[in-house]
Formats: sequence, structure tokens, C-alpha cells
Amino acid sequence: MEGVIIRQLQDTPADALAVQCIARASFGDLLGIAGTEPDDERATAQQLARTRHLVQSDPEGCWIAEQDGEAVGAALSMRREGVWLLSLFVVLPSAQGKGVGRLLLDRAAAYGRGCLRGMLCASPSPAAARRYRRAGFTLHPAMALRGKVDRSGLLDPGDIPVHPGNATHLHLLDSVDRRLRGSAHGIDHEYMLAHYEDLLIADTLAGSGYCYRNGGRVRLLAATSKRIATRLLREALARVPDGEEAVVDFLTAEQEWAVDVGLELGLSLQTRGYLALRGMRPPAPYIPSAGFL
Ligand SMILES: CC(C)(COP(=O)(O)OP(=O)(O)OC[C@H]1O[C@@H](n2cnc3c(N)ncnc32)[C@H](O)[C@@H]1OP(=O)(O)O)[C@@H](O)C(=O)NCCC(=O)NCCS
Repeated sequence: MEGVIIRQLQDTPADALAVQCIARASFGDLLGIAGTEPDDERATAQQLARTRHLVQSDPEGCWIAEQDGEAVGAALSMRREGVWLLSLFVVLPSAQGKGVGRLLLDRAAAYGRGCLRGMLCASPSPAAARRYRRAGFTLHPAMALRGKVDRSGLLDPGDIPVHPGNATHLHLLDSVDRRLRGSAHGIDHEYMLAHYEDLLIADTLAGSGYCYRNGGRVRLLAATSKRIATRLLREALARVPDGEEAVVDFLTAEQEWAVDVGLELGLSLQTRGYLALRGMRPPAPYIPSAGFL
């Protein structure tokens, strides 16, 4: 670990690109099985924008490791209303297993010291699981649904109205977040609204909820009842473009309602890392976003 420097990430294109390169290289072996991002132009632009978004909102939560002038690792974290959230944690394969990850996570975790609760989506990496457990997180094994949506299962649209959302719904989104995970996503909704294809809203006397979808991926879903969550997930999956693989991941056993929707629509179930939580139970009905939790 000689010559390793940990410094705060800067809000520059160069630093965002360095994080991007490390993430691509370190998730290499996990691509596909772990359901990480597809390697296309739009995904790259979104990841760069996400890094800039986080370094602007939480500069003290975002760290980069350099060895002999080369960027070798990064940890991006944020605080939202008393919850510390880890968005990205990566070390280049050539630098792994030498303690760089530990140094980075210590810095990012120090930023969360005043927070009683913590949340992150963990890859299946045994090294990551070790780091998170040692940092006091409870590891909830998670599942993923993937595959082509069987449209014959979508014929009945259901009786709860769902409509597209926009910036006028920010207050509703934050209210649902506070009920479900105890903290609003706040400015992260602005990022998600700007970068994801769909925001779906259900707002009825019986309850409320929302769901983001981007391409084949269900990004984040929160609702005040399983019935509303089920309706939103079905609608989001109905909107996955023909020919694209649908992906819904980080489902703990609390989200059986979502597992059942996926199985009904012909998706296949596999294991997928962990939802790691500190000071809180898994929110439900809820599908976390790996980047914004
Ligand atoms: C997870 C990751 C960031 C950790 O970085 P790192 O620099 O390798 O981490 P460290 O060397 O500080 O610590 C790794 C720990 O796991 C242990 N470890 C490494 N490989 C392991 C394995 N296969 N099984 C069990 N433990 C393992 C190491 O002994 C070390 O523990 P210790 O410090 O208590 O001895 C890095 O491995 C990585 O980028 N992985 C791929 C991307 C990823 O999965 N990121 C996490 C996303 S949630």
C-alpha cells in the first residue's frame, strides 16, 4: 500500500472519468451475473453525471485513491436526512486485497458518523461483504429478476390509476420516501427525473407510490401498500421496450410481492448480492436503486 494517497474527489470531468474507469475495470468479472450497467454510451453519460451530482451534493463523502499518480479506487457516499448511503465502492483489480478498499471505506464512513442509519447495495464480492459486515452492516441476501417480459401476463391493467410523473410530484415522492425508508431522496429525484426514461406515479385515496424505469431496468420503487407497489411494478415492466431484457434487482425476502410479479411475467429468479443496512429494517414494499438506495 506504499504511496497510496486518499483524497477528496474533485468536481471535474477528469475525476469523474477516473471513477468511471475504475468502476468498469473492477466490476469486469461481475458484469452480467451481477446485473451491473450495460456498457453503452447512455449508461456511461449517466454514470459520469451521477458522479458529478454526488460530488456536488456531498463533497466530503466522495473519495478517490491514487497510487503513483494513478487513480486506483473510489468510494462515493451521501447523507440524506440522517441516513448514510454508499453509492459506489470500487478498487482496480490490480490494487485489490491490499487495504485500499479499507482506507476508502473508512473515509466515506467517517462522513456518515452522525447518521444512525445506513444503506447500500452490495455486489456478490466476498471482499465487499467482509468490509461491510466489519463496518457494522447487516447483510440481507438479495435476489434479482431478469428476462423477457411475457406480455400475455399483462392483459389486465388493474384498477389503480397510474400516470407519468414530473417535477410537480417532488413533494409526493419525498413524502413516500420518508414513510418507507425514513428519509427523502430530495435532490436525487432531480437527477433521476433528468436521466431516467419513466417516472410512474400512483396517488389514490388508498395510498401512493412511484417507480422509475430506465430501459429494461426498474430503478427504484416505493409505495405505501403492496397493492400499489404491485400495480406500479407491472406497469413499469409493461413499458420495457420489446427486445430488451427486464432487470429488477436487490429484492430481499421482504419483497415477495415483487418476486411474484416477476414470476407471473416470465422473468427468472437468481441470487444477487446483498442489501446491507445499519440501524434499520428493509423498507417494504420497496425496490432500492443501487446508486441512490
Ligand atoms: C470490494 C472492493 C472495493 C474492496 O477493495 P480492496 O482494496 O480489495 O479491499 P481491502 O483489501 O481493503 O479489503 C478486502 C478484505 O476482504 C478480504 N478478502 C479479499 N478477498 C476475499 C475473498 N475472496 N473472500 C473473503 N475475503 C476476502 C481481504 O482479506 C480483506 O480483509 P481484511 O482487511 O480484514 O484482511 C474491491 O474488491 C472491488 O472493487 N471489488 C469489485 C467491485 C465490487 O464488488 N465493489 C463493491 C460493490 S458493492
